[in-house]
Amino acid sequence: MTDTPLTKPVLIPALALALLIGAAAFVCPASAQSAVAEGQRLAFDRSKGNCLTCHEIKGGDLPGTIGPPLKDIKSKYPDRDELVAILTDETKRNPQTVMPPFGRNRILSEKEISAVVDFLQTL
Ligand code: HEC
Repeated sequence: MTDTPLTKPVLIPALALALLIGAAAFVCPASAQSAVAEGQRLAFDRSKGNCLTCHEIKGGDLPGTIGPPLKDIKSKYPDRDELVAILTDETKRNPQTVMPPFGRNRILSEKEISAVVDFLQTL
C-alpha cells in the first residue's frame, strides 16, 4: 500500500496552486516580462514555433532566410491582432505562403501565440 488516503488531500491543493501560478503568468500584467520570455522560448524551440528555420530573429542561432528578418515588428504591426492573425493562419493573407498556420494546425495554442506576439513586439 503506497497510496495512503493522507497523500491526496495534500497533493490536490498543491496542484491547484501550481496551476493558478501558471495561469497568472499569462493574465497578470505584472508578469508581462515572463510572457515575453516564454514567447521567445516558444519561438526558438525547434519543436514548437521553430521560427528560426525561416526568420532571422535577434538572439537566435542559425536562422534561415525563407521568410523576412523579424525586426521593427512593433512599428510595422502596431496592432497586435494583426500579428495574432499572421501566426494563427498566414494563408488567409497569402494563400501561397510556406509559413505554417500555427493556430489552425494547433502547433501553438492561443496562449502560446499570445506569448510569441508579446515577444515579437519587443523586436
Ligand atoms: C517555413 C517557413 C516559416 C516558418 C517556420 C515561420 N515563418 Fe513567418 N513567414 C514566412 C514567410 C515566407 C513570410 C513572408 C510572408 C508570407 O509568406 O506571407 C513570413 C512572414 C512572417 C511575418 C510577417 C513579417 C513582415 O515583415 O511582414 C511574421 C510576423 C512572421 N512570419 C512570424 C513568424 C513567427 C513568429 C514564426 C514562428 C512561430 C514564423 N513566422 C515561422 C515563413 C515562415
